[in-house]
Amino acid sequence: MNRRYRKTIIAGNWKMNKTATETKAFAEELKPLMSRAKWCDVVICVPFVNIPAALKAFKDTRITIGAENVHFEDHGAYTGEVSAAMLKDLGVKYVIIGHSERRQYWNDNDIIVNKKVHAAIDAGLYPIICVGESLEQRELGVTMELIDLQVKTALAGVPAEKMRHVVIAYEPLWAIGTGRTATAEQANEVNEEIRIIIRKLYGARVARSVTIQYGGSMNANNAQELLAQPDVDGGLIGGASLKPADFTAIINAANQE
Ligand code: PGA
Repeated sequence: MNRRYRKTIIAGNWKMNKTATETKAFAEELKPLMSRAKWCDVVICVPFVNIPAALKAFKDTRITIGAENVHFEDHGAYTGEVSAAMLKDLGVKYVIIGHSERRQYWNDNDIIVNKKVHAAIDAGLYPIICVGESLEQRELGVTMELIDLQVKTALAGVPAEKMRHVVIAYEPLWAIGTGRTATAEQANEVNEEIRIIIRKLYGARVARSVTIQYGGSMNANNAQELLAQPDVDGGLIGGASLKPADFTAIINAANQE
C-alpha cells in the first residue's frame, strides 16, 4: 500500500453466491464490525439480481456496491445481458471486468475486455480489470509478457484522464479459489510490473495514482503481509468476502495506521 499516492481498495467478489435475503443478513452481520474502516475504500461486488438488495442494505455505510460483469453494447438484442447504463442507473459504482472465470467459461478475451472497459468508463462506472497468468504460463516463464499484453489491450484507447477511474487486479489463476496464495513478493513483483506498464503508457503521475489490487486466496491470515507490499493497493477477495468476520479482518489489515 502507498496511501500517499493512491487509494487502498478492499473489494469482495461474491461470484454466484448469496440470495437477496442472504445479502441482507450479511449486511446486518457486517455493519457492526465495520466501524474502523477509514483508511481504505470497501466495495462488495454482487450478482446482478442482488444489486438492489445490496444497495439498500449498505445504504447508510461506507461500502459501495459493484457488479461482477457488464455487456459492452449500450442496448439492443442481447438476451440475458446487462448494460453499463443499467448498472449506473441503479447506483452501482464499480464493475469487475475480465475476471478469469469470465475469460475461462464465457470467452471474455482481451478484446472483449477492452470493449467492456470502454463501456464502463463511458457510463461513468469504475472498472476493476482482472489480469493474471495460469500455472503453466508461470512455469514457462511468460508471466510478464502475458500481463503486458493483457494490461495494454484492456487499456487500449483509454485516455489518461479516465485512468483515475480504473482499478487493476492482479489475480494469478493458480491462486484463485485454491487456497494457494501468491507470496507477498510474487504479488508485488507483478503489481510493480503493471505499474511500470502504466507508467510507459501514461506517465509517472498516472502510474503512481492507480490502485493495483492482488486477488487469489487472500484471507484473514495473509492479508496483512500482502498489503504491506508497496505495490499491493488492496485486494479482490472471493471466498473470504462471503464471511463477515473474515472480510472484516482483511479490511482491518488494510486499515492499519
Ligand atoms: P478467491 O477469489 O479469493 O476465492 O481466491 C478471488 C477472485 O476470484 O477474485
